[in-house]
Amino acid sequence: MSDPAAAIVRARGVAKSYDSGRIPVLHEVDLTVAAGELVALWGASGSGKSTLLHLLGGLDVPDRGELEVCGLDPRREADRLTLRRRELGFVFQLHHLIPDLTVEENLRVPALAAGRPSRETGLRLRELAAQVGLAHRLSHRIQDLSGGERQRTAICRALMNRPRLLLADEPTGSLDERNGEVVFALLRDLAARHGLTVLLATHERRFAEACHRIIRVRDGRLDEIAA
Ligand SMILES: Nc1ncnc2c1ncn2[C@@H]1O[C@H](COP(=O)(O)OP(=O)(O)OP(=O)(O)O)[C@@H](O)[C@H]1O
Ligand SMILES: [Mg+2]
Repeated sequence: MSDPAAAIVRARGVAKSYDSGRIPVLHEVDLTVAAGELVALWGASGSGKSTLLHLLGGLDVPDRGELEVCGLDPRREADRLTLRRRELGFVFQLHHLIPDLTVEENLRVPALAAGRPSRETGLRLRELAAQVGLAHRLSHRIQDLSGGERQRTAICRALMNRPRLLLADEPTGSLDERNGEVVFALLRDLAARHGLTVLLATHERRFAEACHRIIRVRDGRLDEIAA
């Protein structure tokens, strides 16, 4: 899995600060993730996990350094569009679902943006919802769901377009133990059977330890610890 030619994520010397440099978060970060790897980003609250995922997903830009994600450069506007529509699924820590729409309508959004046919989209969203135990909630509005149901909806939304890479920011953070296991098992299965690459920010040691690699985020730097 260490063939650099197969890397899906490459970061070199990436630095990021906020507030015009007054809040340094990441210092000269290097990271390579190969296709099909399930990698945990592990670190204390405020260590920079979400910041790093946002840079990789093209949701923010680094102060300096090189980024390559699925062969594209998330610092470039044109590449960001392709990344979002075709290559990448993002699970936000705070979900960012559309509260007035139903689960089904939220799941249709990424497929619409990618121009996928409605029937295929309907099959896909039913399949995913069933896998995370949400089949009975498809016609409910997001605002009427529990926190864990919203989180599972957000995971399905990120997987709708069959991305090559999933950037998942605490995807099990508001789930009970059983649903946490269900979601983690789904991600592991997608990695093993479909070659999905997953970079997962998590506090939960049991999930970090079940990943192929654990990258610790500390003092603005990354170091790899044994999984
Ligand atoms: N837009 C922003 N403006 C200023 N500071 C920010 C901004 N976003 C993040 N920060 C700061 O950067 C640091 C890293 O934040 P980040 O959200 O990446 O941490 P995290 O590791 O994801 O934490 P958590 O586990 O709590 O989600 C924190 O100190 C945070 O307060
Ligand atoms: Mg975070």
